[in-house]
Amino acid sequence: MKISKPIIGKHPSLKALLRNAKMIAATDINVLVTGETGTGKDLIAIALQENSRRADKVFIALNCPALPESLMESMLFGHCQGAFTGADTNKRGVFAAADGGTLFLDEINSLSLAMQVKLLRFLESGEYLPLGSKTTCTANVRIIAATNSQIDKLIKTGNFRQDLYFRLNVVTLELSPLRKRRQDISLLLNHYAGYFAEKYALRTLSFGKEALAALEKYPWPGNIRELRNLCENLTISMIRRPIEPHDLPLEFRETNFRPATTSFELPEQGLDWYQLEQQFIQQALEKTHGQCKEAARLLGLSRNALYYRIKKYGLEA
Ligand SMILES: Nc1ncnc2c1ncn2[C@@H]1O[C@H](COP(=O)(O)OP(=O)(O)OP(=O)(O)O)[C@@H](O)[C@H]1O
Ligand SMILES: [Mg+2]
Repeated sequence: MKISKPIIGKHPSLKALLRNAKMIAATDINVLVTGETGTGKDLIAIALQENSRRADKVFIALNCPALPESLMESMLFGHCQGAFTGADTNKRGVFAAADGGTLFLDEINSLSLAMQVKLLRFLESGEYLPLGSKTTCTANVRIIAATNSQIDKLIKTGNFRQDLYFRLNVVTLELSPLRKRRQDISLLLNHYAGYFAEKYALRTLSFGKEALAALEKYPWPGNIRELRNLCENLTISMIRRPIEPHDLPLEFRETNFRPATTSFELPEQGLDWYQLEQQFIQQALEKTHGQCKEAARLLGLSRNALYYRIKKYGLEA
């Protein structure tokens, strides 16, 4: 796949994703890209566009939560003169502007239910209704949507329409978090060390063994964005020897993500064991975005033991 920005990594999950992306890119199928923050969803969306038949056509990226709800409809679908106070001319919306090209709807999970209905209609028929208009318009737009939260949970709570999800979900590209492709960490560190050295005309970072080992163990909640920022910070700090653990910000030092060894002392008045257990499990699930395997690791439980407790307390995994 030809890409203007390099996508670094050799992990089988990334390689498989790139193979799929290459095949899908050439079609006009709508795609849903999922993955935690910083895992490369924007990068994949751009790669899909650049390798599509629409590569030389318009590409519009829209960050859904950044748009105020009241303006969303007219921004997306346009409006007619007089549709609302201040609408003194007809105005085209994003769908009209993207006609023939690709529209990247980032953080689609934050789209209001009202807008979800309208998007679904567009996906099903290619038609939309500008605000205040009685005649439908059509546009030929390929949709790439992205989300960093698990939509199936939003469906359960009634905040995302299942029918829209099925429409978007025909093809899903799921980016795994960096902590699940640890072999890519050193590749990415080297890549960004070179990139920032060139960008700032400074020495290329090198990582000492211990620092590298710490970085390979670190859970990277901010994923590749966090790794990129770290490389940028270290490059401009101009350390003239291989990076050592004490050069790294505190959160990267190994001791901070080793299981806490401090023991909890039983308070005089006793405690509510089951409530505590439930709270720990809930916190672990939140921290890991519901990834049971990771949550179990944080709690020092087996996965089965965690499943058992999730069921027992009726918690949301
Ligand atoms: N495989 C990769 N190789 C090189 N750089 C990468 C890779 N994946 C992501 N990046 C870089 O990491 C940064 C974050 O990626 P991106 O913006 O695509 O994340 P995202 O999944 O869209 O995050 P968010 O959910 O916060 O929007 C970008 O600078 C991107 O270029
Ligand atoms: Mg993004």
